[in-house]
Amino acid sequence: MRNSPNRRNFFKKSIVLAGAFSSGSLFNELHAKDFEEKANIYKDLSPTEIASNEDYWSFIQQAYPASSSPLLNLNNGGVSPSPQLVLDAVDRYSKMSNLAPSYYMWRILDQGREPLREKLAQLGGCDPEEIAINRNATEALNTVIHGLDLNKGDEVIGSIQDYPNMMNAWKQRALREGIVYNQLSFDFPIEDEDFIVDMYRKAISPKTKIIHVTHVINWVGQIMPVKKICQMAHERGIEVIVDGAHSFGLLDFDIPDLGADYFGTSLHKYLSAPIGTGMMWVKKEHISKVWPLFCDQDPTRGDIRKFETLGTRSFPIEQGIGEAVNFHNAIGRKRKEERARYLKNYWAEKANEIPGVNIHTSLKAAFSCVIAGVSIDGMTPRVLESTLLKTYKIHTSPVSYENIDCVRVSPHVYTKPAELDRLVKALGELASK
Ligand SMILES: Cc1ncc(COP(=O)(O)O)c(C=O)c1O
Repeated sequence: MRNSPNRRNFFKKSIVLAGAFSSGSLFNELHAKDFEEKANIYKDLSPTEIASNEDYWSFIQQAYPASSSPLLNLNNGGVSPSPQLVLDAVDRYSKMSNLAPSYYMWRILDQGREPLREKLAQLGGCDPEEIAINRNATEALNTVIHGLDLNKGDEVIGSIQDYPNMMNAWKQRALREGIVYNQLSFDFPIEDEDFIVDMYRKAISPKTKIIHVTHVINWVGQIMPVKKICQMAHERGIEVIVDGAHSFGLLDFDIPDLGADYFGTSLHKYLSAPIGTGMMWVKKEHISKVWPLFCDQDPTRGDIRKFETLGTRSFPIEQGIGEAVNFHNAIGRKRKEERARYLKNYWAEKANEIPGVNIHTSLKAAFSCVIAGVSIDGMTPRVLESTLLKTYKIHTSPVSYENIDCVRVSPHVYTKPAELDRLVKALGELASK
């Protein structure tokens, strides 16, 4: 695959401009025409129809060096690789920055921040004045969690299936300031949205100020009914923080449509932006009341940029986000979501038929997209994960956490169905032992 004509094309074209700074987009200069031509061939197919069109997706696979890795990476939910053009952009910006760092970073690359904000806002269907660019979901959400004024006794509702970094932030606030952090526990998979909303509703007391909800649960890929939770919470004057680490750049939605008050995400997961990139969205009317985590000269201002006082960070990495968005847009939000879901169902439905293999995730479209959990009777997640790695060269993520015991499998748009057949075959062999 490494030497296929498409791949050679991607590499050759990228190398031409690597190292030579251009304020234009590498994607537009080099690949937009190819993408347009390919998309044109299949313009009459709906996103669901094109989800299984291997000709279209093989074209996308060529763009990712990871698609020719001998190690089959099925832990894209941890961190996703970037397409070659994103790597080239970062490389190019990095070489340029190192010629005279303070000049190129602060006077040249920094000028890319406002256009990047606009690009991200377009992707999220929101106002650029509500977007702050930072380094990961942890930073984005910790900024909100620690930035809200809460008093001793005020209550926050989350769940033990939220992400540990955010749970720890709330626990620290409980320890330090005496807020009350109540955590629900869910038995996933759940195929009843109202049941989930009701769980949050029943936990509300007159002292509840915040609900913290994870849009897509990282452990097993359950999609949470965020919109309904927000509606229910707002009717009671409660604000909602959404952890979108596993939804942004994958699911087809506009951030404001969720109805949340705050949203934080990594960009180095399904968006395939450079590793170490993230973003926060704060509803305009709330910006002034959220204290920045890294202090600003005017911490109460209503300008979203007050959350970007990070000190020196990697400008090349930050600017590489733009090329990842270009690439993502060229595929299209709905197409990407449908392909991702197709890939999950492709392997999970087959695995589900194997005696002794259990799927821990709903396969219904409303409740999951690309992530699914799998286990084999009589085998711990740790043993299953390490056997898949050592014997089959398949990288997954073991989960033994609270009420969840499985191995998390998360493909990406560069994953080939034949590779998922490899996974299914491995599961079959292990289950029959
Ligand atoms: C649900 C969820 N939230 C937040 C994070 C943290 O992301 P980051 O490492 O980008 O801070 C993760 C990481 O996997 C996650 O799964």
